[in-house]
Amino acid sequence: MSGRRSVNIGLIGMGTIGSGVARVFADRPQVLAEQAETPLVIKRIAEKDPAKKPPDALSALVSTDAADIIHDPEISIAVELIGGEHPALDYITAAIRSGKHVVTANKEVISKHGYELCSLARKNGVEIRFEASVGGGIPLIAPFQRDIVVNRIGAIHAILNGTTNYILTKMAEEGLDFSVALKQAQQLGYAEANPANDIEGIDASYKLAILASLAFHSNVAPEDIYHEGISRLKAKDFRYARELGYAIKLLAIAKQTDHGIEVRVHPVFIPEDSLLAKVTGVYNAIQVEGDLFGKVIFYGQGAGAQPTSSAVIADVIGIARNIVKRRINAVQYPPRNLPIKPISDIEMCYYLRLKVKDAPGVLAIISKTLGDHLISISSVIQKETDAAKQTAEIVITTHPAREQAMQEALKETRRLEVVREISNFVRIEA
Ligand code: HSE
Repeated sequence: MSGRRSVNIGLIGMGTIGSGVARVFADRPQVLAEQAETPLVIKRIAEKDPAKKPPDALSALVSTDAADIIHDPEISIAVELIGGEHPALDYITAAIRSGKHVVTANKEVISKHGYELCSLARKNGVEIRFEASVGGGIPLIAPFQRDIVVNRIGAIHAILNGTTNYILTKMAEEGLDFSVALKQAQQLGYAEANPANDIEGIDASYKLAILASLAFHSNVAPEDIYHEGISRLKAKDFRYARELGYAIKLLAIAKQTDHGIEVRVHPVFIPEDSLLAKVTGVYNAIQVEGDLFGKVIFYGQGAGAQPTSSAVIADVIGIARNIVKRRINAVQYPPRNLPIKPISDIEMCYYLRLKVKDAPGVLAIISKTLGDHLISISSVIQKETDAAKQTAEIVITTHPAREQAMQEALKETRRLEVVREISNFVRIEA
């Protein structure tokens, strides 16, 4: 390796991931050089915020202008770690146009612009890699682009957001209310700057869009994904779920059907003895079903400076190896090939929690309303009663029904004189 010219790298962004990546470069130059078969050198770091500092050994490299990386002819790889759509997309595009390879951890940019960016990279004879964009330190993009490509992927069921999985775990195990569990997650630094992205399932939608696109060889955009958050779950839903043999998880689900791709992120009841039900805390897990390999599960830390820097640096090393060997591995992101199935056409089972008048014949009225919409009841349990208000809480589970039929039935049920409120409904994924 001696005498070989180094591969120079520019790091854009010195936040949590950027400082994690810089630390590995400062601490392990020998390992990096051995694995890349050439010395890897951080030549410049772009960071506007003076409070975000790299390790001392790299402090002389800081500039406030990403253009100092994008237009430096001696830098071969630009590593974008600022997150968010803009200006990250602009920096990535400019870096590719000026002939640089790009590594990014940016799920929003890749899920929205992956196809255009990969096409642009190909045209410019450079690579763009994004292993860290989904699942932090869990190897996912490389397996989806390489190891499992010959399979017809039937389904992905995934826990892709650690913050919400932490909150749901606390609600299930300690009976905490949503707002208390959220506060704890924020105090521990798990929630993103904008917690709505986590809580409302937006972060998981970005990640699912990337995985589904690669799995089905057909572009899935974030706006194709139906998403719902976890804020309307109550501690009692977890109690009732447990009594029925279920856990509640925020799942990202993608399926390939004969009528198109089904993609959705929302809370679901899943059997409590399933592997995904046992994934607790901030961990992520991705279960994939393929026609040749059957079922595989990827499990690990989906966020954090160290796990994510492991994925970012793997991409940098992969590109550096190709630079040494003078070859390009420009993997294409798929264009749209398959239709997306609307949520209204999907068939699922449901859990309903209702507050109703405690009087004879009430259940018959509700089951007739559901029956009129071809929704068949699987079980009904009467829970708490309030003698003073003459109300009772009932929990209903259904057999598979079309989402549209369920929404129409809920609208009608809400208007019934005997129904005080529909307190919650959650889909069931058997
Ligand atoms: N906010 C994300 C999570 C981590 O909670 O999993 C970054 O993707």
